[in-house]
Amino acid sequence: MLNFSFQNSTQIHFGEGQIAKLSRVIPQGATVLVTYGGGSIKTNGVYDQVAAALADHTWYEFSGIEPNPTYDTLMQAQTVIHERKVDFLLAVGGGSVIDGTKFIAAAALFEGEDPWDIIAKRAPITAALPMGCVLTLPATGSESNPAAVVTRDGHKLPFRNELVRPAFAVLDPAVTLSLSDRQISNGVVDAFVHTIEQYLTYPVNAKVQDRFAESLLQTLIEEGPKALADDTKQDLDVRGNIMWAATLALNGLIGAGVPQDWATHMIGHELTGEHGIDHARTLSIVLPAVMKVRQSSKQEKLLQYAERVWQLVEGDDDFRIQRAIQLTEQFFETMQMPTRLRDVNLGESDIDRLINRLTQHGMVKLGEHGDITPDISREILTTALA
Ligand code: NZQ
Ligand code: ZN
Repeated sequence: MLNFSFQNSTQIHFGEGQIAKLSRVIPQGATVLVTYGGGSIKTNGVYDQVAAALADHTWYEFSGIEPNPTYDTLMQAQTVIHERKVDFLLAVGGGSVIDGTKFIAAAALFEGEDPWDIIAKRAPITAALPMGCVLTLPATGSESNPAAVVTRDGHKLPFRNELVRPAFAVLDPAVTLSLSDRQISNGVVDAFVHTIEQYLTYPVNAKVQDRFAESLLQTLIEEGPKALADDTKQDLDVRGNIMWAATLALNGLIGAGVPQDWATHMIGHELTGEHGIDHARTLSIVLPAVMKVRQSSKQEKLLQYAERVWQLVEGDDDFRIQRAIQLTEQFFETMQMPTRLRDVNLGESDIDRLINRLTQHGMVKLGEHGDITPDISREILTTALA
């Protein structure tokens, strides 16, 4: 196992009815800005629950944070923050709202000239407004991690800072019942790929992390299709298991002390930035190709994955690996996700631009060995064609 320091200070409030706890977990006397997206919380009752819980607080709202949140939208929140002297942010939504609110929190107290420098130049952040969140879409893990992804002029870039880690996250599985099938699928596959990014690398004898990761993968494989099936999609246990798995997939625990890949994500971000494809749908296209192209450097973990996640014990090494990749693709297809670039109407002529973007963003040494050059990224995208 590699050396690590681990801390996750986000307090989780899991279960039905937990939104009511906001009245107690947000400091008394705080002036709160509730941030949200395009309005799903207005139609599924979440907004009303939040409003009821904040009855004794002074609060304002900022809506319109879009999927793949943009710098321009997020900067608009600064006016109300400064005019109303907001000192606590409550993000109510999916990864985009939570990520966007992290950027708003950092930008509000940023001392430099242009808050975009936080991302573009990795400008140091010395303070951020405190924030908490009510998660409505299990997927990104943003609710209990210090990371965020923001887009400006088609450039989709990540930043991370402990100062923007949410103080608390409310995880009520009931609020996910209003999700569309597309968003359920996106969430399950995003959490699956987060787990893979921290697991499918090379062995360092990290037994707990490996077995923990395998249990998350198996849970998502078992429960994901149930959340789409008519007779089980209302089942709160199914939703709860998916929700907790998605949080644990990217809260730092399974990634502590192990090598991490993230090439699928970095290549996927270019597909979203350039073509607007949903985050998780970029991952279901890129991951199978990463598995194929990186087969030899990931051989030992691919065999472990084949045996422990897919129970493949018959046949030679190559057969088991091919079969595991095939079953991964089939799982994505069961979740109604695309697995090839052609499924999203992209072809060979689109690859050059994506590689240029990766290079422009400094994504030239990807993967757990830092050896995925733009040429190998090209091979990955070419493999994803058919
Ligand atoms: O905006 P509203 O109206 O709320 O609708 C949203 C949005 O249209 C809807 N939705 C959310 N909860 C709902 C609901 N609709 C009905 N019922 C509910 N309960 O779902 C749509 C998508 O929401 P979004 O927040 O964009 O999805 P997701 O949670 O998948 O977040 C994706 C973003 O997170 C980033 C991605 O890059 C992308 O920008 N990521 C953040 C990470 C992190 N912070 O650690 C890691 C991830 O790898 C990822 O990169
Ligand atoms: Zn992701």
